[in-house]
Parts: sequence; structure tokens; C-alpha cells
Amino acid sequence: MTTDSTPTTRPAEAAGTLRLGGDLTVNRLGYGAMRLTGPGIWGEPSDPEQAVRVLRRAVELGVNFIDTADSYGPFTSETTIRRALHPYADGLVIATKAGLTRPGPNDWRPLGRPEYLRQQAELSLRHLGLERIDLFQLHRIDPAVPLEDQVGELKLLQEEGKIRHIGLSEVTVEEIERARGTAEIVSVQNLYNLADRTHEEVLRHCEQQGLAFIPWFPIATGRLAAPGGPLASVQVSRAATAAQLALAWLLRHSPALLPIPGTSSVEHLEENTAGALIALSDEEYEAIGAAA
Ligand SMILES: NC(=O)c1ccc[n+]([C@@H]2O[C@H](COP(=O)([O-])OP(=O)(O)OC[C@H]3O[C@@H](n4cnc5c(N)ncnc54)[C@H](OP(=O)(O)O)[C@@H]3O)[C@@H](O)[C@H]2O)c1
Repeated sequence: MTTDSTPTTRPAEAAGTLRLGGDLTVNRLGYGAMRLTGPGIWGEPSDPEQAVRVLRRAVELGVNFIDTADSYGPFTSETTIRRALHPYADGLVIATKAGLTRPGPNDWRPLGRPEYLRQQAELSLRHLGLERIDLFQLHRIDPAVPLEDQVGELKLLQEEGKIRHIGLSEVTVEEIERARGTAEIVSVQNLYNLADRTHEEVLRHCEQQGLAFIPWFPIATGRLAAPGGPLASVQVSRAATAAQLALAWLLRHSPALLPIPGTSSVEHLEENTAGALIALSDEEYEAIGAAA
């Protein structure tokens, strides 16, 4: 295993870059801002100042893709991003989502009625302090509403200049292709990590079609980072934590992958971002893949 020459002060840059929709270039290791809320992804975090520090540190470390959603809090994650980072640095891409309602902690229910998606886009613009959202993702397809109506409303928002690019979340190849019949889709955000590769076919499809694949739960909600976890016994030629190996494996596994590890801690953020500095040898990549 070797490290490349990117200064360790901005390790996310070592992940290489990915072009979203052909015009937004981001470093291929991002940050997921779902954990900057209270328990059950509900309400304020116990230490709001720590949440601000995490976001500012992420940008210092070279992260320029931050994933959030209206439903994280709800809105707590978005308003914290604004508080920590507005006015936004050039090139910082904030991706948000709509399509899940929050009746309470740990409760997530799809709602894709066009007027609701529009309302949530308007509220996200306000909460993030943006005039246009760079990447707006349909958080879930609502089975009670025709997909064409849900994606069609996002296309209208795009034509009005309120959103730049459209993404999907938790979708099959068939759903991606159906949505592409209504609007241009630039990204897919599905559950994916070393230990759960259910969406491998979707990943390969994204790779072939030039879409970004944003894997959520990239370290399996911390289970891949845990002491004694599946990566604990993997032998590598330089010091690396299990979380770093899980992220380095994703970066190596496909150029379409844009991991967004989530954390509420500056220490974990620094550890995770440094995973981008690890260039796995072929043998190490195979061994990590087999271990999980
Ligand atoms: N599209 C969707 O439906 C969907 C669903 C879920 C998530 N997401 C997005 O995906 C992002 C990532 O998912 P996630 O945050 O749920 O899961 P994750 O990145 O796989 O894991 C985050 C969890 O692992 C812990 N952790 C992080 N780094 C660690 C480290 N180095 N060592 C030990 N523990 C560590 C965190 O705790 P600490 O806070 O203590 O570090 C947190 O509990 C979210 O933030 C969100 O943006 C999208």
C-alpha cells in the first residue's frame, strides 16, 4: 500500500474527482450530514457547536460535496450547514433531497406529490440560503404517485432555475431508466458498502451510463469501523483503521462511487477523510473484499 503525493492537509483531494452532470467537479470523498441531528435523526444535536466544527473541518480537509436532506431533523442538518458554511466557498456542492416525511424520530414515510416536492425544494433553498440547489435528489419514489409526476416536478424546478441537477435514491435499474424518460438524471444514492453489495447491478449500470453512485451507509453505520469487525484481521502494509480500509475499498471498487461517510465527530471525520490517502494494492483490495 502506498500514499500518493497529495498534501495530507486536504486528504479528500486524494480521492480523485468525479463530474456530476458533466459540469460540477467534486472530490470523490464527500461528507454525509445526516448525523448532525438529535437521536432518531430528529431535532437538534446534543452539541450544535460540534456540528458546526465538523462541517467547517470537512471543508478544510478538502471535502467539497456535502449530502443532506430536508428530512434530517427535519431541516436541522440544512440550517446547520448554512450556519457553518454560508457564504459558501466556490466549488462547494451541497446536495439535498426531498420525498420523505417525518412523523417522528426514526420514522420515514414517502410523500412524492408534486406540490409537496415543490414546497420542500422551496424550503431547502431558504434553509440552505441558496438561489439554486446543485443536486436535488428524490429521496424515495412514492408508490402512490406516478414516477413521471414526481420526476416531472423536479424537471419543472430545474427549468425554473431552482435546481441544477436531479438525482434519485434507493432505485432499481428499471426505475432509473424510467425516470430518465422524463428528465436527465445525474446520480443515484443507494445503500452500498463492503458488507452489503445488493445494488452492485445498479452501480455497474451507473458506471456504464456516466451517473454518479453515492453509497449511503458506506461504513455500515459504523459496523465496518468497529473493533473486532470484519476488517480487523485484514493485514495491510501500513497503519490504517478499519473505517479507512472500508472507504479506500469503495474508492478503488468503482470510479462512479462517491462515498459520503457520516459522523458527528471531528476525530472520526479526520480519520475517515484520511482514508482517501490510502492506495490499495491489488492484493489488499481483494483481501478486504473477501473479508466482508
Ligand atoms: N439516501 C438515503 O436514503 C440515505 C439513508 C441514510 C443515509 N444517507 C446519507 O448517507 C450518509 C452516510 O450514512 P450514515 O451516516 O448513516 O452511515 P455511515 O457513514 O456508514 O456511518 C456513520 C456512523 O458510523 C459512525 N462512524 C463514522 N466514522 C466512524 C469511525 N471512523 N469510527 C467509528 N465509528 C464511526 C458514526 O458515529 P459518530 O457520529 O460517533 O462518528 C455514525 O454512527 C448520511 O450522513 C446521509 O447523508 C442517505
